[in-house]
Amino acid sequence: MVRRIKIAPSLLSARFERLGDQVQEAAKAGADLLHIDVMDGHFVPNLTMGPAIVKSIRPLTKVPFDAHLMVTHPQNFVAAFAEAGVDDLTVHVESEHDVRTTLKAIRDAGVSPGLVLNPATPLKNAAQFLGEIDLLLIMTVHPGFAGQPFRRDVVPKIREARAHIDKEGLACELQVDGGIKVDTAPIVAEAGADILVSGSGIFPDRVAENLRAIRVAAEAGAKGRR
Ligand code: DX5
Ligand code: ZN
Repeated sequence: MVRRIKIAPSLLSARFERLGDQVQEAAKAGADLLHIDVMDGHFVPNLTMGPAIVKSIRPLTKVPFDAHLMVTHPQNFVAAFAEAGVDDLTVHVESEHDVRTTLKAIRDAGVSPGLVLNPATPLKNAAQFLGEIDLLLIMTVHPGFAGQPFRRDVVPKIREARAHIDKEGLACELQVDGGIKVDTAPIVAEAGADILVSGSGIFPDRVAENLRAIRVAAEAGAKGRR
């Protein structure tokens, strides 16, 4: 049986002057999750959305909100994003925090915890936490900006994570973020990704058409898995 791949459009590439409409376009197009990139201008050299924006778009759709915290001190924002209505919160293993404490705080706030690895960070840095998270996010670009080229050198780490999760029978889903478009979706699906994030591959125009094309490409790639 072919696994169903989930597609998570990233609002970072939406037209912000009509963010609400773009949220609804993605929902109507069948987005499985909406990916929300949170940047603090310190962990990464860019600033994006905070809890107030998340709260304002939350009533527009039932599609789960998947928030990716690219911030130096993620522990300081758990309560605010939980209150804003996110469904999962992924935090970087490279941020300045006690990872286990932050993951527990996320879980205790009623939100699904996830852990993110930058392209250069090995899987072993997350290994001790894999039993405690619902989501492992592997970056295929260095975080900070949409529209960067996919880093093919990260593919072996996706395969390694897939093999590890399956071998240990972990409940954790495997997500990939960065440079995912029609041409790269099959590569990460074949390598074992469950959830594909795509910003500039889906937004801002022809959202339904782009999402469908990425889903078809990803499903074709997933068939190639043994
Ligand atoms: C990058 C963000 C990504 C970004 C992806 O720092 O974490 O979620 O929006 O954008 P694309 O798909 O254009 O690489
Ligand atoms: Zn992201």
